[in-house]
Parts: sequence; C-alpha cells; structure tokens
Amino acid sequence: MEEKVVNVKPGLEGVVADTTTISKVMPEINSLVYRGYPVQDLAETCNFEEVAYLLWNGELPTMAKLNAFVAKERSMRSISDDLKAVIKKFPKNAHPMDTIRTGVSFLGMEDERVWNNDPETNMDKSIRLMAAIPTIIAADYRARNEKDIIDARDDLSFSENFFYMCFGEIPKQEIVKAFDVSLILYAEHGFNASTFTGRVITSTTSDIYSAVCGAIGALKGPLHGGANEQVMHVLKEIDDPAIAKKWMLKALEDKRKVMGFGHRVYRKGDSRVPTMKKYANLLADLLGETKWRDISQVLEDTMVEKKGIHPNLDFPAGPAYYLMGFDIDMFTPIFVMARITGWTAHIMEQTAHNRIIRPLCQYIGPGERKIIPLAERA
Ligand code: COA
Repeated sequence: MEEKVVNVKPGLEGVVADTTTISKVMPEINSLVYRGYPVQDLAETCNFEEVAYLLWNGELPTMAKLNAFVAKERSMRSISDDLKAVIKKFPKNAHPMDTIRTGVSFLGMEDERVWNNDPETNMDKSIRLMAAIPTIIAADYRARNEKDIIDARDDLSFSENFFYMCFGEIPKQEIVKAFDVSLILYAEHGFNASTFTGRVITSTTSDIYSAVCGAIGALKGPLHGGANEQVMHVLKEIDDPAIAKKWMLKALEDKRKVMGFGHRVYRKGDSRVPTMKKYANLLADLLGETKWRDISQVLEDTMVEKKGIHPNLDFPAGPAYYLMGFDIDMFTPIFVMARITGWTAHIMEQTAHNRIIRPLCQYIGPGERKIIPLAERA
C-alpha cells in the first residue's frame, strides 16, 4: 500500500531545528546580527580577531581581554613538521578544500585531548583551529606551487599573517582591511548547511575535529561555499563587460543556475553584499583593475531585472580575492578560515545543550514483500 506523503520539508526549508544565541538572520530587512551586533557595523569597526572573540564569548572584548586572546591565537599558529611533511606529499592536483579537510583531521589525530569535550578544552581547540587552519592553507598553496613553506609569524595580525605565509609579504593596509572585512562577513550565518552538518556530528558526542571536517565537506559544494570560486570562473569565462548581458540572458534562457546569485533565506538581497561590494570596488580602484567589477554590475543588473534574484556574498567576494592575488581554488578555503569561528561557536553551543539530531523520513518505496530465493529469481 502506498503511503501518503505528509508534512515533508525537502531541504528542511522553513524548519526551525533549534534555538541559538549566536546570530540572527532577518531576511525581511536584509539584516544579519552576530550576538546582537549588525555584521556591517562589525566589519567597519572591528577586526576579525574581535569578531571571533565575540562569537565565542558572547561579548566584544575589552582591550585587556583582546590582547590576551590575540596572544593565545598567535601562539597557536605553527603546525608540526609531521603535518608539513604530509602537506608536501598531498597530490598536487588535489583541491585545497580536500587538503584542508585532511589537515584538520591530522590536527585532531595530533591532539591528545581529542575526546575531551568540556567547555574550556573545546574553546582551546577552537582557537587552535582558527590559528592553524590558515597555516595549513598557506603551506598547501606554497607546496603545490613548488615553493618553500613560510612559517607563521606571531607579530602580525591574523589577516596580515595569512598574506605573509602565502606571498612572503604584506600588501597595502587597504587590501588587508578588505580581506579582514570578508572574513568578518563570512564568519557566521545561522543554520547554513555546513554549520548544521557540524552540529549534527557534534550531537552524536563526536569530537570537534570530526565536526569541522564534516562542515568543510559541506562547504565545498558549489551550492554553498564553493560558489565563490565558480563566480570567478564565470567572470573569466565572460571576460568582457560588453558581452556580459548577452551571456546572462543566454544563461537564463538555458535555465542555468548562475553562481553567486540567490539564497535560501534572503530573497530580497543578502545583507552582507553592500559591504563586500564596497570593499571589492575599493580594491578595483586601488589596483586599477575594473573589468571584473564592470562585468559583475551588468550581471547583477540583468539578473535583478529579469528574475528579481539578488547576488549573495560569494558574488563580490570571489573577484575581491582574485584581485588580492589568491588562486581561485583558495577562495573556499579562505571561507573556511572565517567560518571556523561560527562553526565552533555552534559546536560549543550544541555541546552545551545537546540532544542527538535525528529527524524522520517518510518511506515512499515498495510495500512489504517476500524474498524470492536466488535460484528462482527471473
Ligand atoms: N541562478 C538562476 N536561477 C536561480 C538561482 C541562480 N543562482 N538561484 C535560484 N534561482 C531560481 C531557481 O531556478 C528557482 O526558479 P523556479 O522557481 O523558476 O524553478 C527559484 O530561483 C528558487 O530557487 P531554488 O533553487 O528553489 O532556491 P533554493 O533555496 O533551493 O536554493 C541556492 C538556494 C543558494 C542553493 C540557489 O539560489 C543557488 O543554487 N544559487 C547558486 C549557488 C550559490 O551562489 N550559492 C551560494 C549561496 S550563499
């Protein structure tokens, strides 16, 4: 007998799965707040380290608390020689999201406290992950490009240190600020797919490294974090503002999903886009490279006019990272550098009020039947 399908929510659309005190997405007014603070205000006023502290502790730090936090983060940036040796052996054509996932797994294997999920230990591990993930990404970038790995420095800010480990130098402060802003905007976003994945894994009382590995796997997909890479591939494919409108009209005619547009929660625009767009445009002016901005604007105007679908954060972030000099396949790993703060805030929140996440599904397969012995099956 066929069962009637009732109350199924594909993609869990509209389902409120739990409460959180970390962030609130308000699509009706295009707003996102972290612990009560609008994200665009945080991006303009604070640095990424302050925002990480806020996400984990619920309050912005005093100067003394920030100094102590920053000192701790800086002291945890180095990775072991064993991990460096493994990174050097990764297949050269592996996607950096796969290498960062394996790198995080390795950090977990090196941590003797892996099974300890008490609040202090998990906070410590979260800071360690925030500090070490950029080092893994940069080391992998250098190794893939046949360059010597550059060790982390403890006299640089989080963002400056990442540029230094990748390129051996620190760019102009405007570029560092644009990067820092992108990290703040990417840091946290409610029960998005990767965060929810991390919470599901945490809910089994598994360890934080396993939860983060799962989250990285979820973020890799082009419908989620992988979109910032795809945006840049599309901009390069178009390459000329004069043909951008035609390209978009054809993509819509072909019913192609255009990366960097649309959002499950925001239907009238992504609250983070105006800030990221502002900084991407500043970069374009600073570096004298306006082609990507011009193509982007035509794509946005055409999409909004024809479909009423707005760009999401990945749309301005992709070309901004390209202008900063990063390889396209590093864009989603950079997203990991930022979102590790939100993921671990949720992992700690889930741990504090845990109930195993175990939804139901409605079976719509064949009714009960008898097994025909193998020899008699047609
Ligand atoms: N390009 C073209 N059309 C799009 C679109 C896009 N990027 N995003 C949504 N649409 C259209 C869908 O085709 C659908 O149209 P239809 O009703 O005529 O079938 C409608 O808008 C609703 O989209 P849907 O796919 O049901 O929304 P969703 O909530 O399931 O998916 C995303 C949300 C983000 C996965 C989706 O917008 C998408 O794939 N975007 C591109 C990838 C991306 O940028 N991801 C980063 C998200 S931050």
